[in-house]
Amino acid sequence: MARKIAVATTVRCMSGCCDPSGYPEVFDKKTAARDVRSFLDKGLDSTAKPMVEALRSRGMEGSTVLEVGTGAGAALATMLEAGATGAVGIDISPHYVRAARLLMSDRGHEEKVAWHIGDFVAMAESLEPADVVFLNRVVCCYPNMVDMVDAAKGSTTRLLAMAYPRKRWSTRIVFGLINTWARIRRNTFRVFVHDPESIRRRVGSPDFEEVASGTTVLWHWKVWERTAGSR
Ligand SMILES: C[S@@+](CC[C@H](N)C(=O)[O-])C[C@H]1O[C@@H](n2cnc3c(N)ncnc32)[C@H](O)[C@@H]1O
Repeated sequence: MARKIAVATTVRCMSGCCDPSGYPEVFDKKTAARDVRSFLDKGLDSTAKPMVEALRSRGMEGSTVLEVGTGAGAALATMLEAGATGAVGIDISPHYVRAARLLMSDRGHEEKVAWHIGDFVAMAESLEPADVVFLNRVVCCYPNMVDMVDAAKGSTTRLLAMAYPRKRWSTRIVFGLINTWARIRRNTFRVFVHDPESIRRRVGSPDFEEVASGTTVLWHWKVWERTAGSR
């Protein structure tokens, strides 16, 4: 019999910033199950893999992790297996939190992770900062890049890892198709190609120094380290 994990389904969202009702329809049970299968068959995706490797090379042993937009939990499970001792997982989709919690319990990590369902930006101030903050392909699901990046920076005591879309025709086409699909479905969810240079500047000096980066066809990923004395 399929195991069930109970999760509260109240979704909190920063008022006036995003409509939380659209996300669970896009990030639903089916996509969550597909993402878990993909992780079990092929491992981490093309951005999460190098981001976790870069974090591991800076030393993750004994650190706490906050992952925003965990999806089905693949990166979070891998970071715990790379030596992180405790984690907070946040996702606005209850379906993804349910899938991620199942994955954690299958891998023996359930006790190490506290879960929140809702808009990270709305809850950031009430969360304990973490050594490592991780956002893989999340800022592009949020209309207000500045608020999300500032909330992520404010929650990071050491390392911040983030993947966000490249500003090029291929990304615009893919994102345009996703938004057209959402409009046709009368779903309020939208994706955004926020200006990568503005993201880089918003995170960057003097508080954070870029320590690793890469690109894929659609994405930039970067890891920044907090500079000494900046907190
Ligand atoms: C494109 S998916 C990426 C999931 C996962 N990080 C990965 O790379 O496989 C974006 C995820 O971020 C979540 N999300 C989007 N906006 C959010 C917000 N404001 N607060 C918390 N989670 C959010 C979505 O529900 C979804 O699971």
